[in-house]
Amino acid sequence: MPKTYPPSAKTAARAHITAENYGPMYEQSINDPDTFWGEHGKRVDWIKPYTKVKNTSFEPGKVDIKWFEDGTLNVSANCVDRHVETRGDQTAIIWEPDDPNTTESLHITYAELQVHVCKMANILQELGVGKGDRVVLYLPMIPEAAYAMLACARIGAIHSIVFAGFSADALGARINGSDAKVVVTADHAPRGGRSTPLKSNCDAALLHCKDSVKCLVVKRTGEQTTWTDRDYSYNDMRLEADDYQKPEEMNAEDPLFILYTSGSTGQPKGVVHSTGGYLVYASMTHQYTFDYHDGDIFWCTADVGWVTGHSYIVYGPLANGATTIMFEGVPTYPDAGRFWEVCAKHKVNQFYTAPTAIRALMGAGNEWVEKHDLSDLRLLGSVGEPINPEAWNWYNEVVGKGNCPIVDTFWQTETGGHMITPLPGATTLKPGAAQTPFFGVKPVVLDPQSGVEIHGNDVEGVLCISDSWPGQMRTVYGDHERFEKTYFGDYAGYYFSGDGCKRDEDGDYWVTGRVDDVINVSGHRMGTAEVESALVAHVAVAEAAVVGYPHDIKGQGIYAYVTLMNGQVPTPELRKELETWVRAEIGPIAKPDLIQWAPGLPKTRSGKIMRRILRKIAEDDFGSLGDTSTLADPSVVDDLIENRMNRN
Ligand code: WT7
Repeated sequence: MPKTYPPSAKTAARAHITAENYGPMYEQSINDPDTFWGEHGKRVDWIKPYTKVKNTSFEPGKVDIKWFEDGTLNVSANCVDRHVETRGDQTAIIWEPDDPNTTESLHITYAELQVHVCKMANILQELGVGKGDRVVLYLPMIPEAAYAMLACARIGAIHSIVFAGFSADALGARINGSDAKVVVTADHAPRGGRSTPLKSNCDAALLHCKDSVKCLVVKRTGEQTTWTDRDYSYNDMRLEADDYQKPEEMNAEDPLFILYTSGSTGQPKGVVHSTGGYLVYASMTHQYTFDYHDGDIFWCTADVGWVTGHSYIVYGPLANGATTIMFEGVPTYPDAGRFWEVCAKHKVNQFYTAPTAIRALMGAGNEWVEKHDLSDLRLLGSVGEPINPEAWNWYNEVVGKGNCPIVDTFWQTETGGHMITPLPGATTLKPGAAQTPFFGVKPVVLDPQSGVEIHGNDVEGVLCISDSWPGQMRTVYGDHERFEKTYFGDYAGYYFSGDGCKRDEDGDYWVTGRVDDVINVSGHRMGTAEVESALVAHVAVAEAAVVGYPHDIKGQGIYAYVTLMNGQVPTPELRKELETWVRAEIGPIAKPDLIQWAPGLPKTRSGKIMRRILRKIAEDDFGSLGDTSTLADPSVVDDLIENRMNRN
């Protein structure tokens, strides 16, 4: 039996949720969601209180999700104004720059935040943005990113953040995909001592967009950028902008934001989140999972370009009146002690990061951690992929000194907030498991083939959720049919996560990873189809198949099998060129880690690529390729195995 960790007396004593109240609360949340959420929905301020709570259906052809549907509220009023009255001088956002040696960190109070948000809201309105319009944000991790999010929420516009690591092509596709009126960007984005020219990427993207799209540019580094007729300077406009703007009254079901995420097929989809249900869920998970208390300093190291940044840098913490840290940099710059230096500098109480960062820092050596005073840390969190026990133990012992519970939070862009996670005051921790469902979440394990629910413990299958929770995505932007098909098409009546899982003998959940053609690279989701279509768009490439393979730091790496056009010679230069090509098509995170030249790919007689075989070869697991006799040409497999050495 691996070691388990019950909550310490100290942790349990102060916790919002304990071993005693978790059970009854969970039962009520499942058996009587109307009463449970009717009560907990009040944690946010409503302009017009709701009278209806849950109105949801997972029924095939009729998937429809509504929470608090007749209530009205404003997210920016909840994240800003209501705290100005009670804690206007408290720091809302601590901004920590990429380079601590050249730039000071900033402390922005709730009162100041209100002015920044209102000014940004007025600027956006001046640029013609109104309720329901889409605004794309392509920004570094600077406070203006939070101002812009909250400004959109204030005027009822829908933001769509594009991670600053995405390429101009990816940005252009997302601007067009949501028909955005304005793009907010910055001159440059410093990160890890390097600088990405965001504005010029934006210019390149906008070449393929409507002329009417305007570009609002925030000055970050002050480096020279080109300036066109569609560009507006945030820094100039804010001098004139009014410092108050009345929050728009929004319906609970009005969209708050769109966030594109990769799936197993085709183009990324625009996940749409709601105003009311999302905010209730983000704030409640933030408070309970991290056992957040007034006055705590909370740090989530994610980027606002991902859902983790939406829910746990901005919306959840600010709805709770927390002090939240926004970090512009990377874990290893200027050195491998950066995370711990920042924890010590700002006296961080809850620290939330990804296993890939933990593994990288573990490799750098304990001395980087030991140099810094981490005595304010009370809780550690993990997100993005299963955390391997070795990394868990290191996180626990070296970072947490054995005193900080670790919450391994399983969730997805689609779920808005935590789905399966330990609660620090209630759960006896098992390294490597996400363990227990959050309130309102009913996980089920299905047999992947038959789709039949597997009851009892010590079972394995695919992870589905059998009923709605308030933070659930509402639709795929502009394509509700795709929403139904993607998430409810495989197993009728259930939300399908795309993950495999087991429920152990105690009833705890272990998420084992994606069972579809999605790979998880450093906690970021990548559709293999997306990388494949980028590769085949290159003139030299005839065909490509992409799979994941185990990678020490990233969790999974991107392994591409590439068949070249007739007459094309595989060379190291071409390999480099293809890597650069994919970076330009999608972004650096999509760059294949390994490219293997493949004269042929294993296909069935009907022409379907047998990915199972490609995965095994990528994993160096040649002994269990399974039946290859149904292949159109079984000899291609021998060739792939023989040539596996030409990967690097
Ligand atoms: C996929 C979602 C919202 C979290 C950031 C990634 C994997 C996430 C865990 C965890 C095991 C995890 C799943 C999931 N995942 N957290 N604690 N344990 N797997 O969001 O890009 O939407 O990816 O990340 O495979 O489906 P995402």
